[in-house]
This record gives sequence, C-alpha cells and structure tokens, in this order.
Amino acid sequence: MAKSIAFHLQKGGIGKTSVCGALACQSALSGHKTLMIDCDPQGNLSSWFLNVAPKFELSDVLQGKCYWNDAIVKVDDIEGLYILPTFSIGGSLKNYSETKLNDEPFIIQDLVAELAGTFERILLDLSPGLGKLERSAIIACDEVITPITTEIFSLDGFEIFVDELVKLKKNYKASVKHNKIIINSFDERVRQAKEIYKEACDSGKYVVYKIPVDPLFRKAQTAHRVPQKYRVNGRGLKPGTIEALFKINKTIWS
Ligand SMILES: Nc1ncnc2c1ncn2[C@@H]1O[C@H](COP(=O)(O)OP(=O)(O)O)[C@@H](O)[C@H]1O
Ligand SMILES: [Mg+2]
Repeated sequence: MAKSIAFHLQKGGIGKTSVCGALACQSALSGHKTLMIDCDPQGNLSSWFLNVAPKFELSDVLQGKCYWNDAIVKVDDIEGLYILPTFSIGGSLKNYSETKLNDEPFIIQDLVAELAGTFERILLDLSPGLGKLERSAIIACDEVITPITTEIFSLDGFEIFVDELVKLKKNYKASVKHNKIIINSFDERVRQAKEIYKEACDSGKYVVYKIPVDPLFRKAQTAHRVPQKYRVNGRGLKPGTIEALFKINKTIWS
C-alpha cells in the first residue's frame, strides 16, 4: 500500500528539504517508485533536482491548469524517482495558497490520494511556518516526521508544532501520525547534542533518528545531484550518513 510522509517543523534552515530529498533518493535506490512533492513556494527541492524549470508545476495542478501527469518530472541519474515541482514563476504557489486554498483545504489531500494509485511512496517538502499551505499538506499525509536540530531554537519550535498539530488534527478530523523525530546535523562531539538525543529517546514518545553533519548535502544540492551518488575529490557522503539514511528508509515506510 502507498504511504505519504510530510517533513515538517515550522522553523527554517533545519534540514527539512535536505532530509526529504535524501530520503526520497534512498527510497528510489531501494527499488520503490517514489514521488517528491515540492510544497514550498521557494522551490528549493525542485532547484536541487532539476536544472531547468519545467512547463508546469504544482500550483498549475492545484488550479486545474494541467493534469498531474503533465507536471511530474522524472529525476535524472536515478531510477524510480519523480518530482511534482514548484518553481513559483511569478509566485504562483504563494498566490494560490493566499487566495483560493482557503476554500479548498482538502485539495492536496485529494491529489495525494490520487497519486497514491501510481506511486508507492510520496514525500512532501514544506516551507517554514504553519499557514494554510502547510496545514493542507500535513493533513494530506499518512504521517508527518519532524526534522530538528539540537539548537534550543528549533527545540522550542518542536513543542509549538506538537500543540498545533493536535489542534489541526482535531479541526480537520485528520488521522496523520506523528511519532518520529530526525535530529539533523547531529554532531557526536557536542555534549548538548548527545544530551538532547538522550532526552528525546527517554521521553518514550518518539522514535528518534540522527543524521550527522555532512557537508556533502550542500555540495550535492549546489551541483543538482543525488547525494548518494555524488563525489567530490573521490569523497561521497560520510559512512555515518549512509548508514543513517539506510536505517531511516528501512523503518519509516512500514
Ligand atoms: N546533515 C547536514 N549536514 C550539513 N549541512 C546540512 C545538513 N542538512 C542540511 N544541511 C544544509 O543546511 C542548509 C539548510 O538545509 P535545508 O534542507 O534547506 O533546510 P530547510 O528546508 O529546513 O530550510 C542547507 O544549506 C543544507 O545543505
Ligand atoms: Mg526547505
């Protein structure tokens, strides 16, 4: 059965796009037909995986200007990975979310349900914030996974997110699951990072994963490449990063 996962916390710069993109690649590499949906008007996920702006984008699908199969693009250099992109030419996704989305909060849910007939695994990358667009995308998914970093700032944001999610699920009668955290940019050498990891595990409420600090993420994004296949001076992702992505991919889809 198909499964959809949104990656979200309302903070920016914590690795939502990096985690979503890297796990989508890992899913495709493990042999599953995988779709990324770029729900961020900034389109960072799309500019990572695509060199040129395609003819149609997510906002065109939502506005009925094209069918989803006209807008979905296959990602080069990797089998089984597709993207429903956002390039926001003229800020179209932002405009749409600020105007029409209010009247159709379940439009992304309907779209994801339809796409689940074609793709086994669907990953949604969201923009920072918890506005109409992010809410509609979260309730569209089976599960939301929260990437955090160990800075206090993003941990404060986590508590706010948990409270908001409770309200959101109640208001929309949504059954989206939330029991996984990915601590991104984890640095073993930092005491605070280790303490926070232990605290999160000890809470017993969440399955807690770690992805190490790895400069290859930024390099692969700049080069528009799949991180698992990209090398700079003979070096790819760190062994710890490869292991983490493998482990997360193995457990989040069941
Ligand atoms: N594990 C990591 N190690 C090192 N840099 C990372 C890691 N994850 C993300 N980054 C970098 O941090 C920056 C912000 O990440 P991004 O995924 O764009 O965050 P968000 O989508 O939450 O705004 C990017 O430049 C990205 O390459
Ligand atoms: Mg992002």
